Amino acid sequence: MIDYTEKIPNNVDLGRDRVLQRALEHWQPAYMNWWYDMGPSESHALEVYLRTATSVEPDGWAQFGYVRMPEYRWGIFLQPRDATRRVNFGVHQGQPAWQEVPGEYRSTLRRVIVTQGDTEPASVEQQRLLGMCCPSLYDLRNIFQVNVEEGRHLWAMVYLLHRYFGRDGREEAEALLERRSGDADNPRILGAFNEPTPDWLAFYMFTFFTDRDGKFQLCALAESGFDPLARTCRFMLTEEAHHMFVGETGISRILQRTCEVMKEHKVENASDVRALGVIDLPTMQKYLNFHFSVTIDLFGSDASSNAASYYTTGLKGRYEETKIEDDHVLQNAEYPVLEVSGSKVITRHVSALTALNERLRDDYITEIQGGVDRWNKIIEQAGISFRLTLPHKGFHRAIGNFAGHFISPEGEVLTKEAWENNRDRWMPSAADQKFVQSLMTGRVIEPGKFANWIAPPIRGVNRQPLNFEYVRFN
Ligand SMILES: [Fe+2]
Ligand SMILES: [Fe+2]
Repeated sequence: MIDYTEKIPNNVDLGRDRVLQRALEHWQPAYMNWWYDMGPSESHALEVYLRTATSVEPDGWAQFGYVRMPEYRWGIFLQPRDATRRVNFGVHQGQPAWQEVPGEYRSTLRRVIVTQGDTEPASVEQQRLLGMCCPSLYDLRNIFQVNVEEGRHLWAMVYLLHRYFGRDGREEAEALLERRSGDADNPRILGAFNEPTPDWLAFYMFTFFTDRDGKFQLCALAESGFDPLARTCRFMLTEEAHHMFVGETGISRILQRTCEVMKEHKVENASDVRALGVIDLPTMQKYLNFHFSVTIDLFGSDASSNAASYYTTGLKGRYEETKIEDDHVLQNAEYPVLEVSGSKVITRHVSALTALNERLRDDYITEIQGGVDRWNKIIEQAGISFRLTLPHKGFHRAIGNFAGHFISPEGEVLTKEAWENNRDRWMPSAADQKFVQSLMTGRVIEPGKFANWIAPPIRGVNRQPLNFEYVRFN
């Protein structure tokens, strides 16, 4: 018998809740089976220099030390309760925040939690083979850190399902371990989480773009009137910041290395750059186009009655809801959305309530643009004229007003044929992917060494040197 209060660091009084303990005793072995099957490939015996959260206090949530990943202590943490917290938007605005699930919102809330929870194990599944071709021990350690924390995020959502949703919640918790990313019969719920992450360029793009979708969804749920959900999401956000850091700096380091090689050898054209064993800038742009477009689909339809009702009922707020100065009800407000009219993209003002997905997507794009600007500084400082750009919001969309339309990265409305003819100029072709993957055929595991296609980071993890043994193979 496992001592859960010991094995699972927590601040939810796990030791005193018998029902919850029994539920977790049942779920935990299934989770471990999932980890052994779908967690990082050939990683179970490795000792990894990981950060473990043991409390939500500033000194407790980042304890570093060597851990074998199957022995990682996946804990359950909620931000401490603020007894004065209220529902801050919608028709229940001003009421005390709910400590139990309101009966009339039970199934909706459960669906919101399951949809968020499903993304966590999905990304571990998507990334499971990447350890086999890591560019350094530092990067290997970072992907494992991301993986164990996505596992912890699954625990965080499963805790809510077990604690607040009875038998239905327990069934959903089991189903979270049964779906598989990319599976034809039982796939993960959201599209981007069924796309493969076949190489490290895709991994860094994923953690920059798609983990940031996670951040914005968590921020919206952190405003929820259902207080345990809000507090859970707040703590998850502290970990999510590291995942986005891994993505942004990963791309920065690739760009830096490519620019160094381009300058050193005075080459510009893509095939010459590739011949030197680094990733050419047009290929970086294509990966960016792909990951940006599949990720902004995750925010949902531009006009959504679900989004309106989540807001009106107090379940899911806006990004930084409490910092916005308006009535927090939005009955009479409008918001601009784009749509295709004939051969043009036009702007239409619609009810702000139904446009809440679009608003969150716009907040997200603003933050993404900041990251792209930082990447461009690296290219600019190298004296190279190439610039990365975000494609038009309508490019390569499968959900919302642009679904079924063929929009170029510049925002022109094209015919299907014209669009298809350019596809391989805009998104990674099979040949591009083959090239990127040809750089990543084995793993670089000598301490302090980095693959040729990526620059070392500026500093190591937790003030350790770059040649630190971040992963021990024994
Ligand atoms: Fe996560
Ligand atoms: Fe994440």
